[in-house]
Amino acid sequence: MAAPIDRMGLLLVILLPVLFSISHAVDRSNFKTCDKSAFCKRQRDVKPGQSPYRALLETLELSNTRLTLQLINDNNKVRLLLELYRLQGNMTRVKINELKPLKPRYEVPDVLVKDPPTEPLSVLDRDENGVVLSLGADSQRLIISARPFRLDIVDGPNVLLSINSRGLLVFEQLRLRKDTISHKITSTVGSMWDKIKNVFSSKSETDSEGGEDVEQNVAEKGEEEEEAKEEEDQPGMWEETFKSHSDGKPNGPTSISLDFSFPGVEHVYGIPEHADTLKLKSTEGGDPYRLYNLDVFQYELNNPMALYGAVPVLLSHTAERTMGIFWLNAAETWVDIGSSASVQGGSEKSQTDVRWISESGIIDVFVMLGPRPTDVFSQYASLTGTQSFPPLAALAYHQCRWNYNDQEDVKAVDDGFDEHDIPYDFIWLDIEHTDGKRYFTWDPLKFSQPREMLQNLMDKKRKMVTIVDPHIKVDSGYKIHKEISSKGFYIKNKDGGDYEGWCWPGNAGYPDFTKPEMRAWWASMFAYDQYEGSMENLYTWNDMNEPSVFNGPEVTMHKDAVHGAWEHRDVHNLYGFYVQMATAQGLIQRSGGVERPFVLTRAFFAGSQRYGAVWTGDNAAEWGHLKMSIPMCLSLGLVGISFCGADVGGFFKTPSPELLVRWYQAGAYQPFFRAHAHLDTPRREPWLFGPENTALIREAVRQRYTLLPYWYQLFYHAHRTGQPVMRPLWVEYPENAATFAIEDEFLLGKDLLVHPVTDEGSRGVTAYLPGDGEVWYDVHTYKKHQGNQNLYIPVTMNSIPVFQRGGSVISRKERVRRSSLCMQDDPYTLYVAVSAQGTAEGELYIDDGHTFNYEKQQFIHRRLTFAEGTLSSSNLSPDSQFSTASWIERVVFMGVTKPNTATLRTADGSESALEFEFDPSSELLSLRKPGVNAGAEWTIQLR
Ligand code: GLC
Repeated sequence: MAAPIDRMGLLLVILLPVLFSISHAVDRSNFKTCDKSAFCKRQRDVKPGQSPYRALLETLELSNTRLTLQLINDNNKVRLLLELYRLQGNMTRVKINELKPLKPRYEVPDVLVKDPPTEPLSVLDRDENGVVLSLGADSQRLIISARPFRLDIVDGPNVLLSINSRGLLVFEQLRLRKDTISHKITSTVGSMWDKIKNVFSSKSETDSEGGEDVEQNVAEKGEEEEEAKEEEDQPGMWEETFKSHSDGKPNGPTSISLDFSFPGVEHVYGIPEHADTLKLKSTEGGDPYRLYNLDVFQYELNNPMALYGAVPVLLSHTAERTMGIFWLNAAETWVDIGSSASVQGGSEKSQTDVRWISESGIIDVFVMLGPRPTDVFSQYASLTGTQSFPPLAALAYHQCRWNYNDQEDVKAVDDGFDEHDIPYDFIWLDIEHTDGKRYFTWDPLKFSQPREMLQNLMDKKRKMVTIVDPHIKVDSGYKIHKEISSKGFYIKNKDGGDYEGWCWPGNAGYPDFTKPEMRAWWASMFAYDQYEGSMENLYTWNDMNEPSVFNGPEVTMHKDAVHGAWEHRDVHNLYGFYVQMATAQGLIQRSGGVERPFVLTRAFFAGSQRYGAVWTGDNAAEWGHLKMSIPMCLSLGLVGISFCGADVGGFFKTPSPELLVRWYQAGAYQPFFRAHAHLDTPRREPWLFGPENTALIREAVRQRYTLLPYWYQLFYHAHRTGQPVMRPLWVEYPENAATFAIEDEFLLGKDLLVHPVTDEGSRGVTAYLPGDGEVWYDVHTYKKHQGNQNLYIPVTMNSIPVFQRGGSVISRKERVRRSSLCMQDDPYTLYVAVSAQGTAEGELYIDDGHTFNYEKQQFIHRRLTFAEGTLSSSNLSPDSQFSTASWIERVVFMGVTKPNTATLRTADGSESALEFEFDPSSELLSLRKPGVNAGAEWTIQLR
């Protein structure tokens, strides 16, 4: 690939960050539009309504849980194999592949947590036009129409979803080059076969089976293509150039496409990552949303351009039903969204039309049929797993910048937090901490005593993160490089040599993380004796794992680079997923399987939730970016990735103190809470903007710390059930159309509503409080507000508008200390926000905060219920065993009348009267010191 780096190259690499910081907006010409991406253009040129595909019903085979059926393309006679499965939990899987591909096509491994369990399928009706299958659940049916081929999922008289109803199924079959076919077929087949065999002899373990039939398929294919109607080659099928990069396509055109229509649906969401609205927009007349993991420098807002991560999951929502589509494909993908009208039950309805286009692989689609939002989240979680349960500390505040310069700097910043009485848990070191961008090493002058530095932090119950990027400096003196190269673990270029590209270290190799052996080796590098200077309070940040290749096409890897049997084209969107997977595995292994890992990644795919946190990459210190952090993280939460955050303060440029304060206030209520800044920006530690701003930032961070018990409980739930932590309002109020497009406020769990201030000079915000007949309490003033109204809230620089739902109990720890670990045994305050009906319910979850022992029932999980004047704590998990030193120091009731007495009863039958204060103007009752252990059985009766 790239020639060994010369002086000019070196200069460029050094200057890149500087150049980056001078220019001001994304250079769009560096990135493809659909028009510039040959397969996307080819596919988009196919217009609806002319499907050449016909289902050959006579080929239908039904085993208990699997239906197969051949489809034929009447234009070129190529046959496809359709497989249908009804999956447990109300899902349908549709797979389409070539019946006899020249060689296997890529099927995404490692993303599904297991082979999804199936349910029996039965044919209800069948004639020469089609087949009707029962989808189990009540009146749900799957209808296969033969001519043209189409699938409809119906529920009684209603069509829920139609597939290929617009005839945009396009499956580019693997084919032989025209110039080779025109020679004698037999000899051509011979040489093709040699090529294919060579590739498959180096197949890796993860690859799917099926090389055996290749020889025969090649022979048949030659004959078939001779018989079929001549297909014209189109530009870009066998080679494509973009700027100075050429993509030789040894397999020719391989793209696939399929359309889905949702009658009656006007709102669709998901398919992150884009810096765009929560509700997806129509792409008619513009570019489709693109999913192709890219390092986009200074990304623009309100734009369907691809960003660092890709999750090919889309949700549809109406007041009646929520559904989802999971398009399991890791190649470059484009998603078109449009609307049209459909007639149902005699009346015309609007419908949303979605079309997926991918460059290679197969069609493998999971239709999640809901019907409620919670069902779709569980369905998707059953396929790809849930959010990993982070160490509690990772939910606290993180202090980062590119870069903390040396150990003294780290110490000064650490001390600064104590001096200014601001808590923090993690300090981060960016690329400059290494010895010349050699990851797993330390700069010998600036960080000569890493263990001492880590020990100092540990003494204060704090932690550190260092960056470990996947590009490896090509340097024969660097152990990591030497081992990867001698083990043959680097990705290869198309000519068989190690692929090399430029990144932070200059010339770099890229380990092939798709190989299980490579991942195992990488994981072993995190052992304390391998990663010298590391200790148990050191965690990891994986960046640039799209992968970013400064001199590659679109700043990423050449698509014809080789991962064993597959091209980079096939696996691109999975690379970052694998990097984080291997790193998380390393952190688990180094502790002998005891400790939960914490790994932050920039690139991600479906399933990345299992390995840690993500952030929204290189945003800018602008109000628009602060606003955009909300829909970006909401979209990620909808597709399983709850642990999301944006660089607080903005990465590029310099925030005004007002913007910085507002960003801290918003970030304190988003899942991953980390301040970060570009190398060239002035320092931004929270105390550098005058005492008033320091106080405002301190207050925001302290609010985060008091709420850590609630955050932790939400993550426990996300981990167990797949429900998102940060939720759009419609998730909890699915029938209320007023909530469907809201993206300037959100819910944490179901009980806290947050409307951050995201406008400069704001004097007030209007928050929509949902729920007819519900009440909400301002968490700062305890003032009660009715639900189902737009509430104007005057704000000052102090204000972070947050409301607690009437009917909930939230626990907090109010003695904020240096770090979350310092607060471990601190007592709880329970906030009981009473509903209009006079009831409330909540939970309290406690464990050791950092090990996997919760999997062995070592936790406390209690239900807190308030009804008929009595608050009681009952055990949600009687078999679990854990003890805590924490106790209940205060109980605050919102929305009650003044009682005469408050009586505490404990499990041993003893009773005591509790002292209390009551404020009639705010209906606030505060009980002093119940003093019971947080894990105990007790009741408090108000009379
Ligand atoms: C990338 C990251 C950024 C980091 C920088 C240097 O731009 O997105 O967070 O600071 O690289 O490592």
